[in-house]
Amino acid sequence: MQLPTPVYPCPLNLQVTGCNTSLKNIIIAAPLGLVEEDYDDNQYKAPNLLRRVLSLMTNLKPGASLISFQLPPEFNIPKSMLQVYGETTFCVGKEMLNQCNAGKDPIERMTAILAWKLSTLRSLAFGVAPYNPILGETHHVSRGTLNVLLEQVSHHPPITALHATDSKNGIEMIWCLYSVPKFVGNGVETHINGTREIRLLNKGENYLMNHPKLLIRFLPVPSVLWSGNITVSCAETGLEACLTFGGSFLLGINPRSVKGKICLPPSKKPLYEINGRWDGIVTAKEVSTGTVRVIYDAKEVLSGLKPPFLEDPEGICESDSVIVWKDVNEGIMKRRWEEAREVKNMVEEKEREIARERKRKGEIWKPKHFSLSFNKDDNTWNCSPLHQSVPRAPLVVPIQSNFHQTFN
Ligand SMILES: *[C@@H]1O[C@H](CO)[C@@H](O)[C@H](O)[C@H]1NC(C)=O
Ligand SMILES: *[C@@H]1O[C@H](CO)[C@@H](O)[C@H](O)[C@H]1NC(C)=O
Repeated sequence: MQLPTPVYPCPLNLQVTGCNTSLKNIIIAAPLGLVEEDYDDNQYKAPNLLRRVLSLMTNLKPGASLISFQLPPEFNIPKSMLQVYGETTFCVGKEMLNQCNAGKDPIERMTAILAWKLSTLRSLAFGVAPYNPILGETHHVSRGTLNVLLEQVSHHPPITALHATDSKNGIEMIWCLYSVPKFVGNGVETHINGTREIRLLNKGENYLMNHPKLLIRFLPVPSVLWSGNITVSCAETGLEACLTFGGSFLLGINPRSVKGKICLPPSKKPLYEINGRWDGIVTAKEVSTGTVRVIYDAKEVLSGLKPPFLEDPEGICESDSVIVWKDVNEGIMKRRWEEAREVKNMVEEKEREIARERKRKGEIWKPKHFSLSFNKDDNTWNCSPLHQSVPRAPLVVPIQSNFHQTFN
């Protein structure tokens, strides 16, 4: 569990645009990094939850969908899933995104994209989860010249859209994510379906990728792991990378391992072999020369991550996650569970009330920043941004002082 660094200083009488929420007491939790990090005393530690998790699950049948499962706030970290998705794009202790552009040739760019992809795999502590965003919830955050905007564009099924642009560095990202948590007997398995696309605009290259499954095992040992196969492909260069996450100690494979190759289809012969651990070091070996180099070091990339702060209190939207969940965050931080439960119910009840009202009036809800469509042929959702670029956000992530800027 990461440190939810509380509270930026904020004048008392500031109002959120369009509503009366006072902005004092906004809590913005630190980004998720690696769970193994040393904690200092300020950090939010979730209560020990194994027994309660097990008792929550006793009435479930394996295969049961947990999509509409309401978690009591003791099981929440004080932030929304939108914040968690958003921060994975950029919250790093070492520049990852711009290195993708800095790659001199297609292979270098593909390995840099893979390294960045690995940096989006963050660990959750066992037994806790972010809030399920409410319909229309947004999160808008910037870091450097990268601006990121997320919106919960559908509630059933829950779909999250992300658009990020960095015009200075020629980067654009469009994601459309729908996660499907299922109870599987000894734990919870979550497919995080949907496509993540990252475009290197100056190179005219688009990289498409999917995401491994998140496994939360209660037994035999509580653990949180990434698992399964993913593909990262670039139609313009023809290169493709295939990675396999996870394994079993029984087969002599560390459950946190990642292994795979970069190839140039239709040939399946690897040009590079990828090996390592997603929570440690990952290397790429050039097959023709045998040269091995480190492409990713989780500790270096995911240490000391800083939460965003509110740079422009006038600009924040009342639909932003940090406003929507403000009182629940506070209840969790103070461990006032009764209070937290009450305010969490209020957020969810208000959402249901708005939905009922809409139904009564026969209104169809539309996302504010994306258009959402369903492709029947391959059963996939598509989220296209309505605007060409994302403006600078009121929430800003400080660039680390120890930030290694190894490109120019
Ligand atoms: C998610 O992806 C998995 C694996 O590809 C698939 O079996 C499942 O049906 C998908 N779920 C949804 C809701 O698309
Ligand atoms: C994942 O990829 C590996 C290596 O290519 C393959 O052996 C395995 O069958 C794949 N697993 C699934 C579930 O597709």
